Amino acid sequence: MRLHKNKILITGATAGIGKALTEKFLEFDNEIIAVGRNKEKLEELEKLDKRITPFKCDISKQDGLDKLILFVEQEHSDLNILINNAGIQYNYNFADGHQLLHKVEHEINVNFLVPLKLIALVLPILKINDNSAIVNVSSGLALVPKMDAPVYCGTKAGIHIFSKALRYQLNKIKVFEIIPPLVDTAMTKGRGKGKISPQKLVDEFIKAFKKNKFEVNIGKVKLLRIINRISPRLADKIMKGK
Ligand SMILES: NC(=O)c1ccc[n+]([C@@H]2O[C@H](COP(=O)([O-])OP(=O)(O)OC[C@H]3O[C@@H](n4cnc5c(N)ncnc54)[C@H](OP(=O)(O)O)[C@@H]3O)[C@@H](O)[C@H]2O)c1
Repeated sequence: MRLHKNKILITGATAGIGKALTEKFLEFDNEIIAVGRNKEKLEELEKLDKRITPFKCDISKQDGLDKLILFVEQEHSDLNILINNAGIQYNYNFADGHQLLHKVEHEINVNFLVPLKLIALVLPILKINDNSAIVNVSSGLALVPKMDAPVYCGTKAGIHIFSKALRYQLNKIKVFEIIPPLVDTAMTKGRGKGKISPQKLVDEFIKAFKKNKFEVNIGKVKLLRIINRISPRLADKIMKGK
């Protein structure tokens, strides 16, 4: 992949991994359409660099998605990279039941359905532009789940398998998958040890992106994959949690 002179749409660009991706891609002289819900954070991004175009949108809402796609079609038809990064994780026990279905639906929507919708909607644009790519952010939990977040793990496993199959279908458009370990962001605040910074994740990803390595196992995910191959039972034990 060419690292510079791209137009990149990043969902969840206001925080964590998405923000670190935004900052890194600016260093390589790209233009970014930064999507998020937080108005203040989007304004900060806009002030940071004129190559950032903020777009305030709740991607879990169909009208938000429709407006985003219309905006891209009308004003950014040179878009060549889509990064499906925005995601949410709820921790719950299915036996508890309280307001469960709302959470289940929200997680499946934001983490799985919306990335697929976005891909389908921007594919006609990506097809006509050069150096085009789709980047999906899954998780090490897509490979081996943890007990506390069954639906989150399920959505990420879905993104993982979907990304592979989509890669088989698309020729000109490259399909990447970032598979992060535990990263130090708002999503993991107050839990887990041995987190890496979002910047470290992005540095690893960029090296792989440049070399067209499509499935990008970040940090400890490399080790997890080896353990899971040799002893799936041990991998399960490590990842399950209490
Ligand atoms: N952190 C980890 O350890 C880890 C590990 C594996 C995978 N991941 C994955 O990495 C991705 C980024 O996670 P993160 O840790 O950087 O999370 P984060 O710090 O909580 O940031 C999440 C981002 O998603 C955006 N977002 C969430 N819901 C949205 C919605 N309905 N509409 C628009 N934007 C929305 C948020 O923006 P606003 O608040 O502005 O809406 C924010 O920018 C996720 O897909 C996550 O599952 C994270």
